Amino acid sequence: MRQKIAAGNWKMNLSLDEGLQLARVISNSLDLTETKPVILAAPYVYLKSLVDLTFPISNVHIAAQNCHHEPSGAYTGEISIPMLKSINVNYVIIGHSERRQYFNETNELLKLKVDALIDAGMNVIFCCGEPLEVRKAEQQNEFVNAQLEESLFHLSANVMNQVIIAYEPIWAIGTGETASPEQAQEMHQYIRAQLNEKYGDNVSQDMSILYGGSVKPNNANQLFGKEDVDGGLVGGASLNADNFIQIIEALY
Ligand code: PGA
Repeated sequence: MRQKIAAGNWKMNLSLDEGLQLARVISNSLDLTETKPVILAAPYVYLKSLVDLTFPISNVHIAAQNCHHEPSGAYTGEISIPMLKSINVNYVIIGHSERRQYFNETNELLKLKVDALIDAGMNVIFCCGEPLEVRKAEQQNEFVNAQLEESLFHLSANVMNQVIIAYEPIWAIGTGETASPEQAQEMHQYIRAQLNEKYGDNVSQDMSILYGGSVKPNNANQLFGKEDVDGGLVGGASLNADNFIQIIEALY
């Protein structure tokens, strides 16, 4: 079901104590009548503690920021999907532009991760988005469509309810430069149209498409107010409880 979602991506930040405190303050701020999902994507080593802290709160979900596609084996330093499942982590971010850029993750590799996650019954937050030069050349639709086609659109319609798409234009990540609400809406509408073409009305209307890239308390309302923007994947502003709580409130 299409939902408004606030997802925080902590990236490689915070100590364990800081992370737990942040999650505690955010969880305590949530009104029990609020049912829109809040997702906290934390470093691997904090996930178990965060799951234990938040498990009684049904709309708070803990996510990993990556995973390996093989279930086990000689992959020193990697974390598998069964490992995440064994500590009750059910959400994983895949294809963040920082993974693509700094760790050479290709559409082909992401397809393997997507398949392994879907097979394991996990929820996938699939990131897509274009770099600045592509935006300048007005090729962003083709670029994002290729990312979706090559890593995601081979899935069958009946598993698309395990997928959340996050559109994150790279030029807006961590730069303080946000896509305008109109630019975000334009791309989200385009992505939904592609989903519609591929999967039909039900899937495309049910899909949550999040915007990411310098979402802040002062722009969240406008961004989330757009018809096809179903919330945000928030980096920097999710590290501060007050800021992130204001962004959660902008979902309502
Ligand atoms: P930002 O990061 O909010 O700091 O721009 C967003 C993201 O990379 O998910």
